[in-house]
Amino acid sequence: MRMVDIIEKKRDGGKLSEEEIRFVIKGYSRSKNPIPDYQMSALCMAILFRGMDDEEIAILTDAMMHSGDTIDLSAVHDITVDKHSTGGVGDKTSLVVGPLVSACGAKVCKMSGRGLGHTGGTLDKMESVPGMRIGLSEEEFVKQINNVGIAIIGQTRSVDPADKKMYALRDVTGTVESIPLIASSIMSKKLAAGSNAILLDVKFGSGAFMKTFEKAKELAETMVKIGKALGRDTRAILTDMDQPLGLAVGNSLEVKEAIKTLHGEGPKDLVELAIEAGAIMLEQAKKVNNLDEGRAKIAQAMHDESGFKKLVALFKAQGGDFTYIEKPEKFPVSKYEIPVYAEKDGYVRRIDSLEIGLSAMRLGAGRETMDDVIDMSAGILLNKKVGDEVKKGDLLATCYTNRMGVEKVIEDVHNAFSLEKDPVKVPPIVHAYIH
Ligand code: URA
Repeated sequence: MRMVDIIEKKRDGGKLSEEEIRFVIKGYSRSKNPIPDYQMSALCMAILFRGMDDEEIAILTDAMMHSGDTIDLSAVHDITVDKHSTGGVGDKTSLVVGPLVSACGAKVCKMSGRGLGHTGGTLDKMESVPGMRIGLSEEEFVKQINNVGIAIIGQTRSVDPADKKMYALRDVTGTVESIPLIASSIMSKKLAAGSNAILLDVKFGSGAFMKTFEKAKELAETMVKIGKALGRDTRAILTDMDQPLGLAVGNSLEVKEAIKTLHGEGPKDLVELAIEAGAIMLEQAKKVNNLDEGRAKIAQAMHDESGFKKLVALFKAQGGDFTYIEKPEKFPVSKYEIPVYAEKDGYVRRIDSLEIGLSAMRLGAGRETMDDVIDMSAGILLNKKVGDEVKKGDLLATCYTNRMGVEKVIEDVHNAFSLEKDPVKVPPIVHAYIH
């Protein structure tokens, strides 16, 4: 078999066979004489233009998933559930919904990522607590899930090496925005992580990968089909990222907001999302008979402190200084606290998530490249959300940073708010359920 023939076949709109797809992934992943990057990037571009059908995508995902180690969760004697977000701004949902679902009796096993560009990552947020270990061995991971009911770790080097190499290549060859390639990239990692059930939170809007509802729906449907084809209970929700989630953007600011939410004092959109996502995960874990029962259980865990106690247990189990969770005032605060005020009256119509995410990054909260070091205390706290009435001089947001010379960033944060004269209807956070 020759790589050039496979590239030409896809370039001309053909359907790749299972043998051809496995040849490509095996050949590209091997350390000795791998398929060269120039041929792989040509194939990715052909896939971007010509697409793949469901069968090709499922085979591609399976081949990528088996390019490295897969986590064996068979020693967990219950249904295991995982949640994945396609990435957003202010998205601390995993730190809220994971403990809530676990507090309701389900086993939550999560492999998370780091932030890049305008989006944050759960691992970075967790590491704002001193001592937190995200690199557990497989044995420790399984033991913690059995004993604590929840573990959140980073992706190990040996899981899905094909995706690591392909994603780095796609990033520099203009081939990220392909639904078959995104879906197989996300799902191969989720499937390798071993959970029986997966909930995908697919975001759309200015701060998301998918800018429109239609594209996000197509991606969600593709991923759900892959998961089902490979034997996992996979569901998705489509959620709004046309404004940041909650009020906090930035690592320790978001952990503090997650803690508040688990004390029953969270912002409305985050609470709503946690209840919806949590209810679905409880249904997937067979801990409830229907979503309404799930919603009631999650709301209860948010109000009786059992979710909060589980967050403390999670940090304690992974070596984090859990007194930060018990006393969030211990988190260091940035040197500079810069208020951003409204210059006119109106109602907030939109808060550009991309702009807020990029601004938080420039204040020190995120990475421009994977090697950048994050300032855990930096970020933005919103004081107004979509639908809120604003008077000239009202506080829109506060920026936290240890950097000087951020005047342009402060202006960008101000400009991220669009105001209009008439009252604005607040959209729901979850726009669709895919099952
Ligand atoms: N996230 C991933 O893991 N892979 C993609 O291709 C895009 C987003």
